Amino acid sequence: MAEFILPKNSKIGKGRNYPAAEAGKRTKSFKVYRYDPDTGANPRYDTYAIDLDKCGPMVLDAIIKIKNEIDPTLTFRRSCREGICGSCSMNMNGRNGLACTTAIDDLKGEVKITPLPHMEVVKDLVPDMTHFYAQYASIQPWLKTATPDPSAKERLQSPADRAKLDGLYECIMCACCSTSCPSYWWNSDKFLGPAVLLAAYRWLADSRDEATGERLDQLEDPFRLYRCHTIMNCANACPKGLNPAKAIAETKKLIAERAA
Ligand code: SF4
Ligand code: SF4
Ligand code: FES
Repeated sequence: MAEFILPKNSKIGKGRNYPAAEAGKRTKSFKVYRYDPDTGANPRYDTYAIDLDKCGPMVLDAIIKIKNEIDPTLTFRRSCREGICGSCSMNMNGRNGLACTTAIDDLKGEVKITPLPHMEVVKDLVPDMTHFYAQYASIQPWLKTATPDPSAKERLQSPADRAKLDGLYECIMCACCSTSCPSYWWNSDKFLGPAVLLAAYRWLADSRDEATGERLDQLEDPFRLYRCHTIMNCANACPKGLNPAKAIAETKKLIAERAA
């Protein structure tokens, strides 16, 4: 797994060590990436010892404990702590995932926590998602229709058509997939990446949407769509068990079918 982006002209500096306040029977060490652009100092890893008997079971519990009890300057995003908001995505022992649904006991040895790979870092574990969200907005992720709503109340969908959205609508835009995709690492300026392409296919697969041609026109591009080389890191990284590579393949199929 590639690492996060180091700020320009910087190297990893000397970190601080925070031993456990009292010796617990189940002490675990967390080595956490720290970077504060306002100080001008190099990034560093700080190491915190946590007594797991006094901590919740998930990595997010440990990070919150560090912030509340040891080091209030530690910065990270979180909201739902239920795997729904997608804001606590980070890299833990070399794998992207959600801190709130990753059990500490599933991580062997010292737990190394870094921001999502290949994203600029705003502070500590907070990546800059501006470009990712702009790419998401570019696919116009909302229902587009041209014909009047027949019932003037809601657009109905058969259970079979609704089922076609399963495996797509559950995406929480956490970016775990896109930031584990080598094609996205090297071409994220132009390649939309697996998360955004899965979101794009969610609207192509929706029987109520009437902008399929327009959406495919926008995607049919050597970079936006075709930089996916089916490496499958995305499906392995998704904490919701989704398969962006499959959605990308279905999109390529739709483009091939309309050209035939
Ligand atoms: S299958 Fe495509 S989108 Fe997924 S990781 Fe590979 S190159 Fe990236
Ligand atoms: S497809 Fe999975 S990994 Fe990618 S953004 Fe959606 S939920 Fe996150
Ligand atoms: S805090 Fe919302 S997904 Fe982890």
